[in-house]
Amino acid sequence: QLDTVYSMTTKEKTVSLLKDRDAFSHKGTHGHALLIAGNKGKAGAAILAARACLRTGAGLLTVDAAETIIDILQTAVPEAMTKDRREKAFSNRFSAIGAGPGMGTGKEETDLLTGLLNDTDQPLILDADALTILSVHKQLLEQLPPGTILTPHPKEFDRVFGACSHEFDRWNRAVALSVRYPFVIVLKGHHTLIAWQGKGMFNNTGNAGMAKGGSGDVLTGMLTALLAQGYTAHDAAILGVWLHGLAGDLALMQQQSLESLLPSDLIDSIGAAFNSLR
Ligand code: APR
Ligand code: MG
Repeated sequence: QLDTVYSMTTKEKTVSLLKDRDAFSHKGTHGHALLIAGNKGKAGAAILAARACLRTGAGLLTVDAAETIIDILQTAVPEAMTKDRREKAFSNRFSAIGAGPGMGTGKEETDLLTGLLNDTDQPLILDADALTILSVHKQLLEQLPPGTILTPHPKEFDRVFGACSHEFDRWNRAVALSVRYPFVIVLKGHHTLIAWQGKGMFNNTGNAGMAKGGSGDVLTGMLTALLAQGYTAHDAAILGVWLHGLAGDLALMQQQSLESLLPSDLIDSIGAAFNSLR
């Protein structure tokens, strides 16, 4: 029965998902992404997610960040707009919302996430600190809008869904959860598992050079951009995870080594990753 539940993503599959960019399009066509990311001492996570989001094709990007890092963000990512976290978010203005990288887990962030889930039925991407908040306030799981994407690494998965004794156990639990809940689970690892509606798809790109803090933040930015451009959650997850790993593989082939690869290099290779699918 294993082969009816689990499969591998293929290049053909990702090529078939990739949309053309309309020659007559304008920035409004490609969505306005919101990233809730970055706090004092963790501006880098927001910068990586923001740059990855823009490189993955979002038409407009606003970053909701702690006031202390707004100037840093504006300098590091001139293409992005910023919003002070203390101002109320108008979530319905955005085509997609990604939350978590370097966001912080304080009261302000907890209230923001809770408020967002009360206000919107728009799908979200929840990563890193947003998952930690979810693990403390588990009732929020019941409120996640259909098509939400969760991107836990194994420890974050266990924090939210309970400790797993073995990797196989975790895979099966992710697949089982995707039957019970209308969300996509992107369980990150060497072969990232994308669980959705009772099926699990393993990704086949990426390398150990990506085992460095910040790689996950890049993925969150990429997935947010794909959702903003109108990809469904499932397609965004399959395509985004593939492109993210491929960017890592191409950066290795171009000039980096498994040791030297930086999350920023992934961002620089997103263009080459897209081009290799066309
Ligand atoms: N092979 C392939 N891909 C890998 C490998 C590997 N050996 N190691 C890591 N990756 C990929 C994962 O698949 C995932 O997409 O790199 C990414 C790592 O993401 P995270 O584990 O979330 O790490 P990151 O977010 O960059 O770490 C920074 O954020 O999640 C919080 O608190 C957490 O300290 C962490 C911080
Ligand atoms: Mg992470």
